Amino acid sequence: MKSKFKLSTQGAKPEGLIGKIVGHLMNRFQTSIYIDYFSHLTIPINAKILDIGCGGGKFLNCLSKASKNSTLYGLDHSPEMVKLARRINQKAIEQARMYITRSSMPEIPFENSTFDLVTALETVQFWPGIDLAFQEVRRVLKNNGFLLIINRFPKEGSKWWKRVQIKNEKEYIQKLKKSGFNSIATDLNFKNSWIVVEAIK
Ligand SMILES: C[S@@+](CC[C@H](N)C(=O)[O-])C[C@H]1O[C@@H](n2cnc3c(N)ncnc32)[C@H](O)[C@@H]1O
Repeated sequence: MKSKFKLSTQGAKPEGLIGKIVGHLMNRFQTSIYIDYFSHLTIPINAKILDIGCGGGKFLNCLSKASKNSTLYGLDHSPEMVKLARRINQKAIEQARMYITRSSMPEIPFENSTFDLVTALETVQFWPGIDLAFQEVRRVLKNNGFLLIINRFPKEGSKWWKRVQIKNEKEYIQKLKKSGFNSIATDLNFKNSWIVVEAIK
């Protein structure tokens, strides 16, 4: 039987046994990158934070330890990832400090002006209707709320570059501006072949 495994599709929506393995690998190898960046940020007291495309939930897990007074929310469209994220965060969920929801971008099932911070870590390249998705992110952010995108930034012309839907810094800025974000900054120096984008509502 031909294997259904394809890295590109598993990244977009981890499924089945392979998806579970991919979820564990992402948890193991990617989270430290984000935590590194996060250590430079000041999180407001009693912040509400939403991690979109939360995958296996390891970043939320680290955040729940680092920022005890925050309430954390994860959203992912993969049932496998929602299950894994809930499992590794069982304690915080039982303490009503964390909520993991299954939903598909561009839909965000939360009220206007709910979050202080929204993170999108290695996920925006998979979102359909990216302009609408950014508008939705803006909608659920409080005024002066903050969107943090950390994403791979493949070399122009490479196989992965052909797959990512936002091709360069300018496009990130244009799309976020078009969706109503005000102050937008990009950083290509944080880590080789990665981009950090910060935008304020
Ligand atoms: C490459 S993984 C990254 C997971 C995690 N943020 C990390 O960096 O370890 C991308 C994640 O985004 C989720 N995702 C992709 N498209 C999505 C969409 N339209 N709505 C919600 N989640 C989505 C996938 O299911 C997957 O868990």
